[in-house]
Amino acid sequence: MILAIESSCDETAVAIIRREGQRAELLTSLISSQIEIHRQYGGVVPEVACRNHAQRIRPLVQQALDDAGVSLDDITAFAATRGPGLASSLLVGLAYAKGLAAASAKPFFGINHMEGHLLSPFLEEGTIPPHLSLIVSGGHTMLISVQAHGQYQLIGRTIDDASGEAFDKVGRMLKLPYPGGPEIEKHAREGNPKSFIFPRAHLKDAPFDFSFSGLKTAVLYQLQKLDDPQAHLADLCASFQDAVIDALVKKTIKAARQTDHTLIAISGGVACNRTLQEALTLAAQNAGMKVQPTPPALTTDNAGMIALAALLAALDHPSDSLEIGIDPNLALATP
Ligand code: KG4
Ligand code: ZN
Repeated sequence: MILAIESSCDETAVAIIRREGQRAELLTSLISSQIEIHRQYGGVVPEVACRNHAQRIRPLVQQALDDAGVSLDDITAFAATRGPGLASSLLVGLAYAKGLAAASAKPFFGINHMEGHLLSPFLEEGTIPPHLSLIVSGGHTMLISVQAHGQYQLIGRTIDDASGEAFDKVGRMLKLPYPGGPEIEKHAREGNPKSFIFPRAHLKDAPFDFSFSGLKTAVLYQLQKLDDPQAHLADLCASFQDAVIDALVKKTIKAARQTDHTLIAISGGVACNRTLQEALTLAAQNAGMKVQPTPPALTTDNAGMIALAALLAALDHPSDSLEIGIDPNLALATP
């Protein structure tokens, strides 16, 4: 039974997971979100985030234990995200989990946040089939060919903004509250995605890489041309979202073909986007492929995915060293 902590950005999260035969059972997964606090600044303020993590972590661990009906003695290992993320935020969760492990002389696992996202679609199965993984979050956009747990090959990534970051930046331009992703999706439902034609980047030498900064600039220029941008809010949101989804879906299907995968998994905060889910599912069906979605509670940052990654790590090796530190730029896979 593993207790896992996630604190890489602005959510403090604690989960407890248990192995039930071949399957993983998530006993509890709690998230204490700071979105309301950071909204007034229009984005995450690292100093504010780490102070809040430090305040919230102890009561949240206690609440998770109470929720699962277990005590610290029942926990057999502790885990925390060690990167990538904000250094000061990562330090809080990692130091806390290491402290619990050191005090109880139990194993400790330092987890890659992106591996958590990558594994999250398979929490219920508890095993990881070969597939192509599309990870779309606030900080990353990646296509990874997965052979099994721990066998990851990077197929494509963004060369500038992440897809979630593009949603957040365009959201700010449109004067929408942070984070922009869910707001843009909401307004896009009322708009026509063909009202404005925004560019789709084609990177000649890297067909599976993404670029969203040109799109962001195109939205900015379009805004400057409009007398009353707010009157076109829904159409702007729908057209921008359509350009992002178009790039994500087309490259994902192509990459799955190239890597001989018929299963595609999608994870990360942007995977909440229903229009994206539907477009990817339809394109996959047409290509004879299947899509494995992420359960809604596990799409944006959470500790359930970190707990699953720790459970699988524990099958692989007895413990990580208590000497390992955070790594804000921790990589997941190489080409
Ligand atoms: O995975 P996540 O919680 O955090 C990171 O690891 O970055 O992803 C957060 C990102 C934000 O950029 C947010 O705007 C985006 O996910 N997001 C969405 C939606 N819900 C969250 N983007 C588009 N549509 C959504 N419905
Ligand atoms: Zn994340």
